[in-house]
Amino acid sequence: MLMRNVLIVASESMPFVKTGGLADVVGALAKSLPNEGIDVRVMIPKHARIKAEYQDQLETIATTTIYLGWREKYLGVQSMEKDGVLYYFIDNEDYFAGPVYRGDDAENEQYLYFCRAVCETLSLIDFDPDVIHLNDWHTGMIPLLLKTQYPGHFKKEIRTLFTIHNIEFQGKMGFPFVKDILGLPDWLNSPRFIEAGGCANMMKAALVYADRISTVSPNYANEIMLPYFGLGMEGMLRARRTDVSGILNGIDTQDFDPAADPAIEAPFSASDLNGKRACKRALRDEFSLDVNLQTPIVAMVTRLTSQKGLDLVKYALEELLSKDMAFILLGSGDKKYENFFHYIAAKYPGKSGVWIGYHEELAHRIYAGSDFFLMPSQFEPCGLSQMIAQRYGTLPIVRETGGLVDTVAPYNAYTGEGTGFAFSTFNAHDMMSAIGLALSVYRDKPTLRKLRKNAMLLDNSFRQSAVRYKALYQSMV
Ligand code: ADP
Ligand code: GLC
Repeated sequence: MLMRNVLIVASESMPFVKTGGLADVVGALAKSLPNEGIDVRVMIPKHARIKAEYQDQLETIATTTIYLGWREKYLGVQSMEKDGVLYYFIDNEDYFAGPVYRGDDAENEQYLYFCRAVCETLSLIDFDPDVIHLNDWHTGMIPLLLKTQYPGHFKKEIRTLFTIHNIEFQGKMGFPFVKDILGLPDWLNSPRFIEAGGCANMMKAALVYADRISTVSPNYANEIMLPYFGLGMEGMLRARRTDVSGILNGIDTQDFDPAADPAIEAPFSASDLNGKRACKRALRDEFSLDVNLQTPIVAMVTRLTSQKGLDLVKYALEELLSKDMAFILLGSGDKKYENFFHYIAAKYPGKSGVWIGYHEELAHRIYAGSDFFLMPSQFEPCGLSQMIAQRYGTLPIVRETGGLVDTVAPYNAYTGEGTGFAFSTFNAHDMMSAIGLALSVYRDKPTLRKLRKNAMLLDNSFRQSAVRYKALYQSMV
């Protein structure tokens, strides 16, 4: 059967609102699918954080009242077109005027409302999706609601694909809470359906009710079948193994383009790396590093959470800073890591630079001006930062897990091949040896140039991912 219409639903999307890679992927996928002949629309909450320049362009399509159990709630649907894609925004200031993620039950309620609002909005817009592509737990109740509360409700039978970007966050809450808000029957509160470990679990609901399941790299698709990575979902994933696939993310190569990036000091490319030196000088000066340009800069741009291997960095950084290298970090998140990096910045002012917070242009300047990008993740569903770094000729140093295995070819001293450096065991000393190898290759200029070129010439664009998603959508109808 011919399918054309896809609605992507997520809690965040570039260029409107981003807290991590999910937004990059939703935005890049939406932008790429029209080239594959898909009519794609995107639906996200109207978060207060959306830039004013966009807020001013939104048009209201519908306003109505919906019910969360006995509560009457406002629902506004607004829209705007961006890069040839129509975006819908679910408007309710009770839920989306504050942080994108409020934490705890307040966050659960934000996204239970969102799930209900998305289902109700399907009757208010002039678009009949063949497939609804859902992303992460925030959208997890939608397949269940469509199958149990809306059968025969829409013009077409709608299929659902649920993509896991990060299985660590599952949307757990007491069953009475979700029962009350969405009007669910008690029989759903069972391990066969949405219960896991004594809680109602929105990710589990999606894994049970979605027609297909995917995740963001082939390697992570295998890993989540195991308890260490599956975090309680491995049984359900194994039971549905034939419905699970892994599609590697790509990056937005227009947004991240060293040859045409307005945020960086000077343009450069694989065939002319001169601009990269200017970017390094500017970055060094921006962070007032007291090192000469021969000293390698190792950088991180990351959410500060244990997933990203920050416990290894905490353990090893002071020893690493005794070597001839400088360190730059841009990130925000857990206070214990923020405090640690404040301490490092204060103790090693000329050798380290730290910016706690979220800053998009600075991220570009760091990708462009650094020599190495450190990403020693404990687990990593895909990871975009290592691909962005490669595109800017900044060699990633990664732990071999999840998508990092699918995207970084470790340097091989015998063949001279590689697009980065890697270590396998989650151990600070193994990480330090990988960094040590990178620092020694840094002094071997012909090899360094070759690795940089290899990395920059990789095709990490979203096109291949879009082609695979299209094939998956088509296999569903
Ligand atoms: P995750 O989604 O787990 O955070 P990814 O590597 O998939 O990890 O994507 C992270 C994205 O968020 C990258 O585009 C990265 O550059 C960006 N990012 C992370 N932290 C910051 C920050 N503090 N400021 C700007 N961009 C950031
Ligand atoms: C999640 C994962 C990250 C992935 C991103 C986009 O945030 O932690 O590995 O790249 O989603 O899929």
